[in-house]
Amino acid sequence: MAESKTDTKSSNQMWGGRFASGPDAIMEEINASIGFDKKLFAQDIRGSIAHATMLAHQGIISADDKDKIVHGLNTILSEIESGNFEFSRQLEDIHMNVEARLATLIGPAAGRLHTARSRNDQVALDFRLWVKEELEKTEKMLTGLIAAFLDRAEEHAESVMPGFTHLQTAQPVTFGHHCMAYVEMFGRDRSRVRHAIEHLDESPIGAAALAGTGYPIDRHMTAKALGFREPTRNSIDTVSDRDFAIEFLSIAAITGMHLSRLAEEIVIWSTPQFGFVRLSDAFSTGSSIMPQKKNPDAAELVRAKTGRINGSLVALLTIMKGLPLAYSKDMQEDKEQVFDAAESLELAIAAMTGMVRDMTVNTARMKAAAGSGYSTATDLADWLVREAGLPFRDAHHVTGRAVALAESKSCDLAELPLADLQAIHPDITDKVYGVLTVEASVASRKSFGGTAPSEVRRQIAFWRARN
Ligand code: ARG
Repeated sequence: MAESKTDTKSSNQMWGGRFASGPDAIMEEINASIGFDKKLFAQDIRGSIAHATMLAHQGIISADDKDKIVHGLNTILSEIESGNFEFSRQLEDIHMNVEARLATLIGPAAGRLHTARSRNDQVALDFRLWVKEELEKTEKMLTGLIAAFLDRAEEHAESVMPGFTHLQTAQPVTFGHHCMAYVEMFGRDRSRVRHAIEHLDESPIGAAALAGTGYPIDRHMTAKALGFREPTRNSIDTVSDRDFAIEFLSIAAITGMHLSRLAEEIVIWSTPQFGFVRLSDAFSTGSSIMPQKKNPDAAELVRAKTGRINGSLVALLTIMKGLPLAYSKDMQEDKEQVFDAAESLELAIAAMTGMVRDMTVNTARMKAAAGSGYSTATDLADWLVREAGLPFRDAHHVTGRAVALAESKSCDLAELPLADLQAIHPDITDKVYGVLTVEASVASRKSFGGTAPSEVRRQIAFWRARN
């Protein structure tokens, strides 16, 4: 293709009017973004078609030129999609690669496309369109992950497991309740995604370089054609800001943080020592030396991807920090961070959805663990408050003595003979044994949002209706 053979010594054909010679090779290398922004080709072409159509509608270019431009752009779209397009680094970025090819295809009419716009509003448009689509994809993927958890929660609304604080056995909970905790987290992540879509739903095209334009353009028309709610209101802000990208990265970082906690739990739960879950073969790997091993590599990688996403967020915040208005070339560094984070996030959500759907839950192991570690001690204290009228602090103390006694006898609380319990407090009766089982413990926690199976089912119904 002609433009790829451009002599490096001649000045740039797009902006080189005042330049006597072309850029140094290093200048070209540091300046070019085509290596990564070619990902924006579809958005760039869509934006240009909407822009050219508006220019013709407003009488700024002729209908004939518009037809040629639109036809040429569609040809370029299929060339790129079918891999028959040669990208040139000398042409810097996706915008100039497309425009140069358009000139080759349709001749002088191509030169009219860039009327009343700049690469500054063009790149703001392309990138916003891309981020918007990525947010929409993320929303769907989170819905899938939530659905996977709802199924597991329903299946295990009554399965008892130990609940932890400090990773020490705290109180029995149901596995369904634990699953629903993640539904709440990913539900909030999804609502953050929806808000971000609302924030960025304004069309940048027509802001031009930074000051708007003297041509009688119709920004409402292009906004509508490109599926935006309305045009942006301030042309300086439009070409300056990348907060929509930073918002995407923030959401990715928060979602990644949630995913990494789940990943960590899966790593712990799938150890032979815990044995709460068994990952499917599809989401685990073997060891090349230790034949017995089944490693939770996917969960570990999800945990690690979170670090990478955080890096992208901090990178873009740092790139944007302190930049004077309006556009500076620093902002070209925005895209790789977002592309990399988006890829990591998609993979992480997909891998987690698969793991959650496929893993086998060992309810017997969970139940056995739930009963160990004196997990129903709080239930004994609560019984003393309710049935013997003790203040909670005293009940806590009495229960502590019962736990110490059970510990010294290497038995559970429920295995202590009534005489032993009565020696600690005379008001204890044999009715107390009814609250010392893990099933009774979880069933009693019916407070709104609590772990009782009836409450978990209510939570599931709530989310089913909105998922
Ligand atoms: N490749 C550039 C970017 O990604 C496009 C905008 C260039 N604008 C300019 N005034 N040099 O930011």
